[in-house]
Amino acid sequence: MGKVVDVCGIIGYIGDRPACEVIVKGLKRLEYRGYDSAGIVTEEGGRLYIKKGAGRIDELAEKLGFLEMPGKRGIGHTRWATHGVPNDSNAHPQTDCSGEIALVHNGIIENFAELRGELLGKGHTFKSDTDTETIAHLIEEELKSSSNFEEALRKALKRLKGSFALGIIYTGEPDRLYFVRNESPLVLGIGDGETFAASDIPAFLEYTNRVVFLDDGEYAVITMDSYVVKKLDTGEVVEKSVQEITWTLEMAEKAGYPHFMLKEIHEQPRAIKDAIHGNREIIRGIAEEIANYDRIIFVAMGTSYHAALVGKYLFQRLAKKVPIVEEASEFRYEFEDLIDDRTLVIAITQSGETADTLAAMKLAKKKGAKVLAVVNVVGSMATRIADLTLYTHAGPEIGVAATKTYTTQLTVLTMLAIELARIIGTASEEHLRRLEEELIRTPELVELALKHDGALRELAEALMDSRDFFYIGRGVGFPTALEGALKLKEISYIHAEGLSAGELKHGPLALIEDGVPVVAIAPSGKTFEKMVSNIEEAKARRAFVIALGDSKKLEKVADVFIQMPEVDELLTPIPYVVPLQLLAYHLAVLRGNDPDKPRNLAKSVTVE
Ligand code: AGP
Repeated sequence: MGKVVDVCGIIGYIGDRPACEVIVKGLKRLEYRGYDSAGIVTEEGGRLYIKKGAGRIDELAEKLGFLEMPGKRGIGHTRWATHGVPNDSNAHPQTDCSGEIALVHNGIIENFAELRGELLGKGHTFKSDTDTETIAHLIEEELKSSSNFEEALRKALKRLKGSFALGIIYTGEPDRLYFVRNESPLVLGIGDGETFAASDIPAFLEYTNRVVFLDDGEYAVITMDSYVVKKLDTGEVVEKSVQEITWTLEMAEKAGYPHFMLKEIHEQPRAIKDAIHGNREIIRGIAEEIANYDRIIFVAMGTSYHAALVGKYLFQRLAKKVPIVEEASEFRYEFEDLIDDRTLVIAITQSGETADTLAAMKLAKKKGAKVLAVVNVVGSMATRIADLTLYTHAGPEIGVAATKTYTTQLTVLTMLAIELARIIGTASEEHLRRLEEELIRTPELVELALKHDGALRELAEALMDSRDFFYIGRGVGFPTALEGALKLKEISYIHAEGLSAGELKHGPLALIEDGVPVVAIAPSGKTFEKMVSNIEEAKARRAFVIALGDSKKLEKVADVFIQMPEVDELLTPIPYVVPLQLLAYHLAVLRGNDPDKPRNLAKSVTVE
């Protein structure tokens, strides 16, 4: 199983072929990852040639003449915007002032605003809104006091905070290319008299299956017949072994996973890190803008609606604000007369294109409300309607079932609630710090949850013929129950209901009979003992109970116990949804369904 991949695509080539041909093919192989713009830089005779723009690769190739670019070394990039809307100037490559350094970037530079300010002060001029361009100028600046390019590169990179994979070309060194990896994937392809680098193997698999994986904190210097890998901090050479890839192209696109959904489930630790990195610097400003609003209404649909429900618990418990959560489809019928300029509407939408959510946002704007959007797709319609936007930085999600976009929505909402509580003074600094530290640990907790994959597959085998599933949870665990049930029904086509466990004996208990699977979300916390009673109620009706929690007590009451790591109850929605995603995935596959393309459903519902 390969390592996970993410966001933008990088392909670099140095050899004897026309670089543009290899790069255009590579970019097309990276298309499946999703992108909004693309660009290429090649070099010949000490001059860089750059062509880039927003749009599809084929159209850009035709319009800009990608395939007419001279040179036998170059780098290409597909961009999926994280800073700056998708347009021609924000497309990569980005260059320094002299035009001698060009680079492409995958990831997020957290401290780019500060660096950009510093570089502007030193007289650098910027041509884009990207965090990427800052790196080119930073290297240019360091070059002034360095003995060679490599030293300048290392000095510049030491100053960056965040995640990055980079491809860099410099006119002053005509025989080489540089590639850097720090928390964003990069792999080298070793050919015969030619060397490749890419963020993902399919980009060059047609030419070579011999690869060298870079690790975080390493960079590679490649020439047409050599490669050297070094440590970023010390410059020390790292010995790397060449591996032979036996994947087919299709397998390689999914990083070796059989489906995009499974790949995206496994990408969550990285996606959550990016959500944290990408918002750390701006969350305070957004929280300050909204701290004075008392009438807060979350609007969203589907999985995003479940994130909104978690948001409600976070806002209540931490910031002592009691938001309303409304399905965007119902908002305009219920709230038209209740919105004014003292209202804050928080719209949550992965795609930023869901028709119901957009309609709710437009109405809110018309009525004078402040609108904050929590969105994954940069530049999407929701971001254009909203006054303020927080991006989830999950990277493109191809599977129709939302997975990594959900856990990153939860991450961003947690950051926002913490910051609001800090500003308003509704929780102690010690408590908020502890929560922040635990949030930083959630990627590890998700890794631990992913380790249940084998057991969940076996469980799916045992339950694949079940007709109904019930998911129960209380408090902040209730949205997790709803989300678990939604995942199951949308891809496995098994009937599933998410229930507030307290409601069980007010009706749904009548449906529980011998062997019916009941999935109980039971973390330690305010309602743990109550959850144990609810599990016992279900057991008394001979339900087959699968309990997720951190207390060993569950082992005794449930039929299957999924041991979850200990974490503050408010953060449990992030790791606890992971086994539910995996269970749904395995049930879908075992029942012969394609989890990436469930029947009757579209990734983005753009009609009401
Ligand atoms: C969940 O797996 C679905 N893909 C769906 O419920 C989705 O969350 C909903 O359509 C909302 O989409 P959005 O986040 O893009 O607005």
